[in-house]
Amino acid sequence: MTISRTFIDFFIDRDHVPTTGSTLIPRLGDPVLFTTSGMHPLTPYLEGEPHPLGRRLVGIQRCLRTTDLDEVGDRTHLTVFEMLGSWSLGDYGSSETLKWGYELLTSRFGLDPRRMYVTVFGGDEQVPLDQESLRTWQELGLPIELTTEDNWWSNGPTGPCGPDSEIFVWTGDGDPEGTPTTDDRWVEVWNHVMMRYRRHDDGSLEPLKQQNDWGGGAGKECNIDTGLGLERLTMLLEGKRSVYETSLFEPWMRTIPKLWKLDERSRRIVIDHLRSSIVIVGDGVHPSNTGRGYVLRRLIRRMLTTLWRDDDSRSLSDVPIELFEHTLSHFHQGETVTMIRRILIDEEIRFSNLLDRGRKVLSHERFHKSLDDTDYKYLHDTHGLPRELVDSLR
Ligand code: SER
Repeated sequence: MTISRTFIDFFIDRDHVPTTGSTLIPRLGDPVLFTTSGMHPLTPYLEGEPHPLGRRLVGIQRCLRTTDLDEVGDRTHLTVFEMLGSWSLGDYGSSETLKWGYELLTSRFGLDPRRMYVTVFGGDEQVPLDQESLRTWQELGLPIELTTEDNWWSNGPTGPCGPDSEIFVWTGDGDPEGTPTTDDRWVEVWNHVMMRYRRHDDGSLEPLKQQNDWGGGAGKECNIDTGLGLERLTMLLEGKRSVYETSLFEPWMRTIPKLWKLDERSRRIVIDHLRSSIVIVGDGVHPSNTGRGYVLRRLIRRMLTTLWRDDDSRSLSDVPIELFEHTLSHFHQGETVTMIRRILIDEEIRFSNLLDRGRKVLSHERFHKSLDDTDYKYLHDTHGLPRELVDSLR
């Protein structure tokens, strides 16, 4: 059985109803550009609106995060990834979710509890230590680290938020050492958020309705939002060094190293950004200078810049069709390969022309000095050369 199926079935057996998940594009009127977390499409329900499927949900959600962009290229960070999630909409609290989390990881997925560590919210001036989570982990016998900022989850500066408890797994050789905050061989796999509050513009916190309605408060029924990164879990269960070496990336790692000789970090960046670009275009976004299209454009340009560092004859036209097909089929996207390839290759041509123009303009004597804001404005307004591109060409 696949990892996703095992996860979903585990929660169905505990009365959760599967949701279909959504695309990377949030619903109309949502202030964020992309879906960044599994809870995102559930925001109105965490805030109190009754969900048509009930109070216990489970699902898989594709997410896009560009906040960790500089970390992409390491073993575990991806821009587009899939989050396995379980939710309690005011139905149960931290003790249930953490015990189920422990049971699923150890009994079903076979992870060794001696290679696990958990973190718990230690309290700050607004919210007390998360006693219930602490007690639950103590009963289960796992080592615990208390933190504040690292154990507070919110989807943005305002809106639903709360303390969380994160489960880490040791990925180093030999016996575990240190703690999650002191040794990055502890990899976070599963975050359980006790979504108890709404943060207002002035920074104040209001307990969410579902916490009060159900006689909740700390330790009783509340909103629970959990997210388990599928690629990371696959890496751990398949015993691989990085997410790129898992079965999820098999066709990528079989073809890209043969096509382009790149160092490990560059290869990961190229694979990640290209795969994400396919998924984003597959969800209906086209490259542009604003909004979602600009996020996509930056990803494509970052990938091409990495690809052309040693050899500017490399082209997306050479990418095997199989990689497009594999990605679209994995993410259940209906767009055609021909259309997606065309959009990406057109963007490559546009970027290549822009770089040629940039080099020509910057070779002018006027720019053989350090540039000031007037120069950058002129280069942008007259020649369409963004500041970061100008800097990369000098
Ligand atoms: N919203 C939390 C996260 O993204 C748990 O799903 O980590």
